[in-house]
Amino acid sequence: MNTDRVEGVEPRHGVPLYGPDSFPALRRAGELAARALDMVGEAVEPGVTTATLDALCETFIRDHGATPAPLGYRGFPKATCTSVNHVVCHGIPSGQRLGDGDIVNIDVTVILDGWYGDSSRMYFAGAPSPRARRLCTITYDALEVGIATVRPGATLGDLGHAIQAFVEKAGLSVVRDYCGHGIGRVFHDAPSILHYGEPGMGLRLEPGMVFTIEPMVNQGGPEVRLLNDGWTVITRDRQLSAQFEHMVAVTETGCEVFTRSPRGLDHPPW
Ligand code: MF3
Ligand code: CO
Ligand code: CO
Repeated sequence: MNTDRVEGVEPRHGVPLYGPDSFPALRRAGELAARALDMVGEAVEPGVTTATLDALCETFIRDHGATPAPLGYRGFPKATCTSVNHVVCHGIPSGQRLGDGDIVNIDVTVILDGWYGDSSRMYFAGAPSPRARRLCTITYDALEVGIATVRPGATLGDLGHAIQAFVEKAGLSVVRDYCGHGIGRVFHDAPSILHYGEPGMGLRLEPGMVFTIEPMVNQGGPEVRLLNDGWTVITRDRQLSAQFEHMVAVTETGCEVFTRSPRGLDHPPW
């Protein structure tokens, strides 16, 4: 638990509660992550390398007075995660060129004045198959279904269940081995946000809790495998996987999403 390192933040059941004074800084960090994702989307096309996309994000983040949180985090070698096709998450940007019809998740986390902003979206290189597009649409909608449950008094089981039920109704599966996380002055904090669960179970949400929701959804089975590079997570069956991520706070009346695109590009016009 990292809560003892978070100054000026009251822990509740080990979960930091961020007061109203924290919200302007959380908004600034979230918006910068969103703007990086808006920017990099214009560069996604067949033939571009994931290292180029990473470099564009890193430059943008530094030009705006922030640093990329993944770089050097537990030895991660790049500024962003780029996860192509059957890569579930934590793909390492490389010389790999995107092919026509590839889908790619770009995951940006910034540190701005000591505050973290974390968000990811799916992008298309050229024209993916209808099945690939549907996977991405369902994954985006699953994130929104999860966000819609966030309010004081709801539980993390309510949140996870809503996402799981929506995804499985569509004939897709939810990855169990990776989850969302508390965030704020710390990258990965309590609570863990599972994208599956039982209604009424788990932590009860209170105003001031800040966390990510980042469902990973597979076309086939939910099982994953970690590659020998120690980072890249792929689907065991090599079928496609998609992910979207937002960073949210529980407010008195419901929830605030810190990582919405200022340009309305959260959900590209596919
Ligand atoms: N941004 C990822 C998340 O959503 C974490 C990436 S950590 C890294 O939590 F080291 F893989 F970059
Ligand atoms: Co995250
Ligand atoms: Co992320």
